[in-house]
Amino acid sequence: MMLKFFRTPQLLLLAVVLLSATPGFAQSAARPQVKLPDGQVRNVILKNCVSCHGIDDYAFHAMDRQGWQELIDTKHKQARNLQLSLRDERILLTYLTTSFGPESIAFPRNYVASEITEFFDNVQARVFLERSCTECHEIRVFEHRKDMAGWRALVLDMRERGAEISDLNIEKLVEWLGRVRGINPVE
Ligand code: HEC
Ligand code: HEC
Repeated sequence: MMLKFFRTPQLLLLAVVLLSATPGFAQSAARPQVKLPDGQVRNVILKNCVSCHGIDDYAFHAMDRQGWQELIDTKHKQARNLQLSLRDERILLTYLTTSFGPESIAFPRNYVASEITEFFDNVQARVFLERSCTECHEIRVFEHRKDMAGWRALVLDMRERGAEISDLNIEKLVEWLGRVRGINPVE
């Protein structure tokens, strides 16, 4: 039966695509992804901030300048004797407050990506987007390309803003978006 099924080249291709798409979701953990910014702050971060941990965790926070200052002071300068020039600190705080300020939405720490066994096809995804995303704005996903972690961060952000989506449907949508609006890794 299987062999007969696979004899059609298109079906075999489809099966390969589906099978290779599947393991992706389990491995792509529910963590934020922060892109290393350009400009002056890029070097400030590379010089001072990447020797112990990455930059993704910044997105767990949405704080004003004072909050960021405190995090740098207590957890870094005091606890770990981090030395930071005044100039670097100013540039860094401006970046942190702009990108992860009080009006941004912190990535939820407690989100655990559900394992999915059913996948959206294009029609189901379209119907879902119409139903769940058009209450506040038109469907915007076709303007963007992201990997699954990037899409997950976006959809979780939408849920924080009020979109009603279950964990399971988030993962179905994220898997579909990663497939049809994905990105090839750069660098
Ligand atoms: C010497 C090692 C070290 C360096 C360098 C360092 N960090 Fe940290 N950072 C830590 C440790 C350890 C923690 C966890 C501390 C805790 O939770 O008490 C942490 C926690 C954080 C957190 C909170 C993470 C979370 O999960 O909420 C942020 C944000 C952060 N650091 C930003 C920075 C920034 C910005 C810089 C550059 C100025 C920096 N770190 C440089 C060691 C470092
Ligand atoms: C409760 C309201 C609401 C719902 C429902 C909603 N969004 Fe949003 N969305 C927003 C707000 C607010 C913004 C940010 C402000 C803006 O750009 O209009 C936004 C922005 C976006 C952006 C642009 C982000 C960027 O970085 O440019 C995308 C893409 C997006 N939403 C996709 C979705 C998807 C996909 C869904 C359904 C899963 C959805 N939204 C459901 C409120 C909503």
